[in-house]
Amino acid sequence: MTDILRVAVIGAGRMGADHIKRLSTRIHGAEVAAVVDVDLSRAQAAIEGIPGAVALASADEALNNGDVNAVLIATPGFLHEEILLKALAKDIPILCEKPLTPDVESAWKIVQAEEKLGHKRIQVGFMRRFDAEYAALGQLIHGHDLGELLMLHHQHRNPTTPPGFTNEMLINDSVVHEFDAIRFFTGEEITSVQVRLGKATRNAPAGQHDPQHVLLETETGVLADVEIFVNAKFGYEVATQASFEDGIVNIGGDKGPYTRSAGHWGGNVTPGFEERFGAAYDVEIQSWVDAALRGEIGGPTAWDGYATAACCEAGVEAQKSGEKVKVRLNIKPDLYN
Ligand SMILES: NC(=O)c1ccc[n+]([C@@H]2O[C@H](COP(=O)([O-])OP(=O)(O)OC[C@H]3O[C@@H](n4cnc5c(N)ncnc54)[C@H](O)[C@@H]3O)[C@@H](O)[C@H]2O)c1
Repeated sequence: MTDILRVAVIGAGRMGADHIKRLSTRIHGAEVAAVVDVDLSRAQAAIEGIPGAVALASADEALNNGDVNAVLIATPGFLHEEILLKALAKDIPILCEKPLTPDVESAWKIVQAEEKLGHKRIQVGFMRRFDAEYAALGQLIHGHDLGELLMLHHQHRNPTTPPGFTNEMLINDSVVHEFDAIRFFTGEEITSVQVRLGKATRNAPAGQHDPQHVLLETETGVLADVEIFVNAKFGYEVATQASFEDGIVNIGGDKGPYTRSAGHWGGNVTPGFEERFGAAYDVEIQSWVDAALRGEIGGPTAWDGYATAACCEAGVEAQKSGEKVKVRLNIKPDLYN
C-alpha cells in the first residue's frame, strides 16, 4: 500500500469544497490530486493554491489518472452508484458521502459488488459517529454503564430548506442520519418505521409537511422517536436524549459560552451542520485516510449505507400510508460481520 493518499474529489459543491479544504490543510497522510466537477470553473476554483492538483470535468478522467489512488465522492446521491462501481473496479479506497445510493436496489448492487471484490473499500459519510458526544453516548450504551438502553428521543431541526426540498427528502436526506445514529448507538438493525403527520408549520413550502414524527423499533425492542422539523427558523439543532435503566443522558445541546450581559442571559444557536459537525468531519476523514493507508476502512460500511437505504424506503412508504412499515433487509454478507 502507498504511504500517501492522492485523492480525487468528485463534486466540488457544498460538501466537496469543504472536504477539499480539510484534505489540503488539516488531514495528514492525504493530498488532493484531482477535483472533478461538471462545472469545470468550480473544480478550477477548488484547486487554487493546491500544488499538483488538477481540475477535471469527468469522474472517468480522474479514475484513469495515474496520480490518483483514492476517491472521495461528493456529487448528488443519484450519481453515486456509477462512480462507486467504477472506483470498486479500480480497487481503491473510497469515501462516499451519504447516501451510499438513493434507493435500496442500487445500494444492494454496491454491497454485492464489494462482496465480490472480497474486501471492504467503501466508507460511507455518516459523520455523526465521529462527533465526540455521539461517540461518548455510544460507549455508555455499549459498556452498559447505566444498565440497558430503553428508549432514544431524537430532535433534528434545521432553520429552513433549500428550494426543491420535497416531503420525501425529510426522510431520505435528513432522517437518514438518525437511522444511522440509532443503528450506531444500539448496534442493532431498525425493524420498523412509522411516520405521523400532525399539525404543520405555516413556514413550510407547498407540498412539504413539516414537522413530522418518526417512530422506530430495533431488533431488541428499543423504541426511538425522531422529531424532524426542517423549517424551524431558530437555527440548527441535532440532539438526542437516551433513557437507560439507571439514568438519562442528553447530547447535542447548544455549546459555547453562556453569557449574562445587558439584562440578558444565554448563548448562540448553531447556524448549520458545517458549524455543528465541523470537528466530526475532520475526525471522519482522518479516520478514513489512516485506515485506507492500512488497506482498511475507518467507519460506516456499504452495509450501513444499504441498511439505511432500506430504512428510508420504509420511511417514505410509512409517510404515505401512515402505517407501521417493516424494514426489509437481505441477509448480511459475511464481509460485514
Ligand atoms: N454528511 C453530511 O452531513 C452531508 C451534508 C450535506 C450533503 N451531503 C451529501 O453530499 C453530497 C453532495 O451534496 P452537496 O450539498 O455538496 O451538493 P451540491 O449540489 O452543493 O454539490 C454537488 C456538486 O456536484 C457537481 N456535479 C454534478 N454532477 C456531476 C458529475 N456528473 N460529475 C462531477 N460533478 C458533478 C455539481 O456541479 C456540484 O458542484 C450528497 O450526496 C449529499 O447528500 C452530506
